[in-house]
Amino acid sequence: MRQLGIIFSPMAKNPTAGQVLPDDLEAYLALLSGLPCVDNATLLAEVEAFTHAHFSTGAHMLSGLHQGRLLSMFSHLLRPEQVLEIGTFTGYSALCMAEGLAPQGVLHTLDKDARLQSAVQDFFARSAWAGRLHLHIGPAHATLAGLPGPFNLVFIDADKRAYGHYLEAVVPKCKPGAVILLDNVLWKGSVYGIADQADDIRDYLSTLNLSIAADPRWQAVMLPVRDGLWMLRVV
Ligand SMILES: C[S@@+](CC[C@H](N)C(=O)[O-])C[C@H]1O[C@@H](n2cnc3c(N)ncnc32)[C@H](O)[C@@H]1O
Repeated sequence: MRQLGIIFSPMAKNPTAGQVLPDDLEAYLALLSGLPCVDNATLLAEVEAFTHAHFSTGAHMLSGLHQGRLLSMFSHLLRPEQVLEIGTFTGYSALCMAEGLAPQGVLHTLDKDARLQSAVQDFFARSAWAGRLHLHIGPAHATLAGLPGPFNLVFIDADKRAYGHYLEAVVPKCKPGAVILLDNVLWKGSVYGIADQADDIRDYLSTLNLSIAADPRWQAVMLPVRDGLWMLRVV
């Protein structure tokens, strides 16, 4: 059994800036989440170490073990021919979703940050899905226009204020039964309750969440996983 690399303490219950979940909850969920498939475990650990070494302030953006296992689970359930991800960062979530790809399945992942390109392409080339994971560098809205789909699994995890735009662009390219996931939609719990300070993204997401909940184009359930994950099943 894996060992917890952290000592539980009440102090650890308060997340520090940039952190999404308290350390002890994150560690407990990771302990219970199971390991990545054999093909991927070493590479994902390398991606995580690389991310912490090179992006110390942005490392919290990486999905992490627990959410990564959930992405892998969705992918295994759907066996997608085509996965779309908006927001690659260092490639962690893309590699998790790759685990469930159909035998000839492909994954397209989009990021505007050209500094990520060589590292992510290297990770992809050394993965079990080399040649089937495609990184597109550039603004996502422009790249999306050139990707016809149809997609079976979509993970939206980039600039929050464009989520509504991405959703509208993606839905016509999804097969019925496709699953669309949108990350960070609880925005650290600030989308509900009483707002104590101005936050444009919180206001945007709380309005978007209500419109997503009322939209008949999909069946929607919000999962309180990490920073909140919308799960939409396209009808
Ligand atoms: C939260 S990170 C993605 C994390 C990744 N999905 C994971 O779980 O490991 C968000 C990424 O979106 C990218 N991004 C932000 N705005 C973008 C845009 N307009 N077009 C493309 N990528 C964008 C950022 O460069 C960043 O790498």
